[in-house]
Amino acid sequence: MLDLMVVEDYEALSQKGADMVASYIVRHPTAALLVATGNTPMGLYSKLAALRTQNGLDTSDLRVFQLDEYLGIGGEDDRSLYGWMAKSFLAPLGIADGQVVRLPGDADDPQSACRAYDEQVRAASSIDLAILGLGPNGHLGFNEPPADPTCTTRVVALSEESIESNSVYWGSRARVPREALTAGMDTILNAKATILVVSGRQKREVLRRTLQGPVTPQLPASYLQRAHLTVIADRDAWGEE
Ligand code: PGA
Repeated sequence: MLDLMVVEDYEALSQKGADMVASYIVRHPTAALLVATGNTPMGLYSKLAALRTQNGLDTSDLRVFQLDEYLGIGGEDDRSLYGWMAKSFLAPLGIADGQVVRLPGDADDPQSACRAYDEQVRAASSIDLAILGLGPNGHLGFNEPPADPTCTTRVVALSEESIESNSVYWGSRARVPREALTAGMDTILNAKATILVVSGRQKREVLRRTLQGPVTPQLPASYLQRAHLTVIADRDAWGEE
């Protein structure tokens, strides 16, 4: 079930996304959220924090699941995706550490940390709302192509495309870790609702393939065609018609 919203620009995308997530939280104050980092959702998160300040959104019973983390990177490293989520989402929304299920990049045994994460997802029964961006290669989290829809949470190697796109965050390719922990496709695809935010001309082709192309492991995001999906795209990302 697809709900596609095409809005004028990134500002409108961020506001629409924030309004939707805020109203979801009001209706589901104990929801389990799966929260992406990346550049696209940042405007949504800051507008959501502004809504909380204005309207007193209660976030104290939410649970937040981290979507992905670089392998070998601890929370204090400037490249930590947890650190990025903490600054952009957890702190501005007043979400305490105890409400968060992390993917610890610096765990002694990352594989068993991934299994523990999946147990926490099962304990929550499933993710209620996933907030995702779209990788230029159609990855979800770091489920790089090819990714089967049943993949569990695990350690993966980053694709060349992801190393390239992530170099924008950290200033150079050399600074991008080569492996990561990612929430599995099964966790992502079993979310009861998903909001996918997509901005910019450079995402147009991958967005079309995601929504209108064949459902295939070669484009992991294409499995979202089978999910309860809301896409918020700006005009640059969707095109004219
Ligand atoms: P972006 O990343 O929001 O920075 O474009 C999306 C992704 O790679 O999943």
